[in-house]
Amino acid sequence: MYTMSKELQNKELPVSEALDNEVTTLEPTFNKLVDTAISRRRFFGASATAGLGGFFAFSSVGNAVASSMGKHTMAKSPLIGFDAIGTSTADTIVLPEGYQWQSLVSWGDPLFPNAPKFDPSGNANAASQAMQFGDNTDGMSLFPLSENRAILAINNEYTNYKYLYADGGKNLTKDDVLKAQHAHGVSIMEVERDHKNIWRVIQNSDFNRRIHVQTEMQLTGPAAGHDLMKTRIDASGTQVFGTMNNCSNGATPWGTYLTCEENFNGYFGADANVERTEEQKMYGIKNDEKRYQWYKQDDRFDFGRNPNEPHKFGWIVEIDPKDPKSLPLKRTAMGRFKHENVAIHVNHDGSVVAYMGDDERGAHIYKFVSEHKYNPNNPDANRNLLVDGTLYVAKFSMTQDKGAGEWVELTFGKNGLTPENGFADHAEVLIYTRKAAKHVGATTMDRPEWIAVHPDGHQVYCTLTNNKNRGKEGQPVGGPNPRAENHYGQIVRWTPPNGDHTADKFNWDLYLVAGNPNQHQDAYAGSHNIGSHNMFNSPDGIGFDDAGRLWIQTDGNYKNKGDFLGQGNNQMLCADPDTGEIHRFMTGPVGCEITGLEFSPDSKAMFVGIQHPDAHFPEGGNSKPRSTVVVITRKDGGVIGA
Ligand code: FEO
Ligand code: CA
Ligand code: CA
Ligand code: CA
Repeated sequence: MYTMSKELQNKELPVSEALDNEVTTLEPTFNKLVDTAISRRRFFGASATAGLGGFFAFSSVGNAVASSMGKHTMAKSPLIGFDAIGTSTADTIVLPEGYQWQSLVSWGDPLFPNAPKFDPSGNANAASQAMQFGDNTDGMSLFPLSENRAILAINNEYTNYKYLYADGGKNLTKDDVLKAQHAHGVSIMEVERDHKNIWRVIQNSDFNRRIHVQTEMQLTGPAAGHDLMKTRIDASGTQVFGTMNNCSNGATPWGTYLTCEENFNGYFGADANVERTEEQKMYGIKNDEKRYQWYKQDDRFDFGRNPNEPHKFGWIVEIDPKDPKSLPLKRTAMGRFKHENVAIHVNHDGSVVAYMGDDERGAHIYKFVSEHKYNPNNPDANRNLLVDGTLYVAKFSMTQDKGAGEWVELTFGKNGLTPENGFADHAEVLIYTRKAAKHVGATTMDRPEWIAVHPDGHQVYCTLTNNKNRGKEGQPVGGPNPRAENHYGQIVRWTPPNGDHTADKFNWDLYLVAGNPNQHQDAYAGSHNIGSHNMFNSPDGIGFDDAGRLWIQTDGNYKNKGDFLGQGNNQMLCADPDTGEIHRFMTGPVGCEITGLEFSPDSKAMFVGIQHPDAHFPEGGNSKPRSTVVVITRKDGGVIGA
């Protein structure tokens, strides 16, 4: 989803208005904040070990959220037109009255005329998987061809060995590893809506394509061709085979799909005696990798033999969904980390701004600003906009509930990113983005997941899903990360001054703080727009529809016990950004997370991903569970959410 700037003069800006004036006073605010942070650290340092129950009456977070919105949170939202549903522990999808869902495509479904059907035995080979929909559906984007036809590009984040193989992956052969690699990546398919409002995949469309861990790709931008990119099979340092752990996504106004490489580290391994570099440790690469075990059958993933191979992953990859023969392009200017998603916004001056999160406890939020300007009249001229630009990392004030922030530039030679400090050139700043961010003192966040820009372009929202390490060393409690041992999560939003997303300052506030008001009366009850009727934990996927409704998907604890009692299975909620109202719209089947959302151009169909269901979804009975993309429509054919 991308958004274009609109004139904002007539738009009511409920939170940012009061903050706009503060932008110019960042320096003093920041200094004051440090003081607050220190005193708070002391406070938490003493009490965090007391556990969740006993510390810090934090209902002020909620007060501030509600009062800063200037409206009563229980007001009936003009945006939300359905009756909210309750929680569920059933092995199915539940929706509000008047809504219905259908399966569109599940793991293993054939995408080509000659592709075999899904074989639930787990004995299907690698060649079959390469012609089928990949596993663990995640972020997706729709590229309309006509009113009822479109190309759908969908990430396949990872695979579950428990279900992929008949023996659960105990004795992996070379073909087994290749099959796992084919279950990853991106699936591209043409979809069509019939006169009964049912969507289906067109199996013989020329657009259909599978991109996986063996697909040839190109590195572009400042790190392409660098010595740290050269490997035994690629002396040029510009070629890559594959993309993996494609979590969420983005789309550009020039019609390309962006897929984000998240936990790429988990696919590399080496013998126990191989010494890891500091940078490998920083990115979580481990010797004794047990989950996927690719390195035992495919030595590209043995970082002892191929120490530079991991440098080719952890990027954003741009794909032309309309040209199945095109090479996917890795955009090194946008930095290397565990990319969750990318929110593209065309600024009023034509600069393309990309907001990105690094999903790790204590990792950071980034912004990329293109060097060249977007040209709406010449799509081909936009093809290289993500090749060159400036990368920034966010520094938030440590104030309570809201405050100021700044974007710190990550450019070689600036802000101490120099050879004396271990950065030889700009390519190294990009290849080791995390190291650069740490060096400039970026704020450690509670696992940044998706980021979304409001359709009006005035505000940006980011889910901070949870962080059990908040309050430990290097991850101080405060600012947008207000609770130690944060296992519920929150949504932070920021407002650039005068709608200028290229500015190096911003104001932020907390849109919601998730919690369980049945189990807690303190900070862990959540903000005032959270009650027993709409509670949840671990917000992850977010996106706006055209009307400005914010859709929130969860990937959290679904045990429905203890701190999570009454929250049920993972779910999707619909929120009004102005009033703060949050209504539960959907609950998912057992064991799944809800991730991936997209709308038809008329907003009458919503595509949603059900990832890693763990009972018998979608077929029921004794069937094997399969990650599935579903389409939600209204029985009366109306706009979703209205
Ligand atoms: Fe793949 Fe951070 O979720
Ligand atoms: Ca996610
Ligand atoms: Ca998550
Ligand atoms: Ca996931």
